[in-house]
Amino acid sequence: MPQQTQSVIVTGAAGGMGAAVVRQLAARGVNVVAVDVVADKLDRLKRELKEAPGEVDPVVADVGSAREVEAFVARAVQRFGGLDGIFNIAAILGEFKPIADSSNDGFDEVMRINTKSVWLGMKYAIPALIKRGGGAIVNTGSYLAWHGCELLGPYNASKHALVALTKTAALECGRYNIRVNIICPGSMNTPMNDATADGFNPGDRAAGLKALAANTVTGRVTDPEEVATVGVFLLLDAPIQMTGALVPVDGGYSAK
Ligand SMILES: NC(=O)c1ccc[n+]([C@@H]2O[C@H](COP(=O)([O-])OP(=O)(O)OC[C@H]3O[C@@H](n4cnc5c(N)ncnc54)[C@H](O)[C@@H]3O)[C@@H](O)[C@H]2O)c1
Repeated sequence: MPQQTQSVIVTGAAGGMGAAVVRQLAARGVNVVAVDVVADKLDRLKRELKEAPGEVDPVVADVGSAREVEAFVARAVQRFGGLDGIFNIAAILGEFKPIADSSNDGFDEVMRINTKSVWLGMKYAIPALIKRGGGAIVNTGSYLAWHGCELLGPYNASKHALVALTKTAALECGRYNIRVNIICPGSMNTPMNDATADGFNPGDRAAGLKALAANTVTGRVTDPEEVATVGVFLLLDAPIQMTGALVPVDGGYSAK
C-alpha cells in the first residue's frame, strides 16, 4: 500500500523562515496548511508552489486567537484527512526598550503572539496527532531562549517560556508517539533580522547587521533555508528518541 501523504501546519508561513520551511515541505510532497496574517505573501507562496508535489493551503489567521487556531487545526484535519505535525514559527519582536520604559500592552501582545500562540497550537493539534497515531511538533525559539537580551525583555521572556512549554509537551506526549522539540535560530537573514539591526542600531542598519554577523563563529548570519533544513528534519525525520530537545542553528553563537 502506498504511504499516506503527510499533512502539517506551518505558522508564520509568509515570513523568511516560514516560507523556507513551506518550500521544503511542499518539495517533499507534504501537504501544508500555511498560516500567516499577511494574505498577499501567502498567495504568492501558493502560486510559486503550484507545481510542487505537496499542496499548499494558505490560511489567514491570527495565531494568538484561540478561535482561529482551533479553526485552522480543524481545517487541516478536514482538508487533508488528518494531521501529522505542526511547526510553530510566527512571532513578533515587540518594542526595543528597557523594561522601565516598555508598555504593558506591548508585553501582553508579544506574549500573546509568541507564547500563547504555541500553547494554543499544541493544545488543539495534540488531539489530532493522537488520532493519527503520532506525529511531531516543532516550536521556534531563538538563541534568546536561554540568553538575556537588553532592550528586548518581552521577546526574550516569550522565547524562554517556549522552552518550558516544549519540554512539558514532550513529557506529556511521548506516550502517544509524538515528538516535541524546539529549534533555536540565531540571527537569520530575514525581515526580522533587519528589524533587529534597526532596533539595536537606529539609523544605521548596516552597522547593526555587521554586529549581528560578528556574534557567529562563521562570520555571517544564518540563511533561513539552513534553519528550515533542520526544522524539517525535526518535523518529519527525527527518531522518536529525539524529543524535548533544544536545537540551536545559530552559527555557533550558543557555544560562546
Ligand atoms: N530572524 C532572526 O534573526 C531570528 C533569530 C532568532 C529567532 N527567530 C525566530 O524565528 C522565527 C521566524 O522568524 P523570521 O525571521 O522568519 O521572521 P519574519 O518576521 O520574517 O516572519 C514572521 C512571520 O510571522 C507572522 N506573524 C506575525 N504575527 C502573526 C500572527 N499574530 N498570526 C500569524 N502570523 C503572524 C508575520 O506576518 C511573518 O510572516 C520566529 O519565531 C523568530 O522569533 C528569528
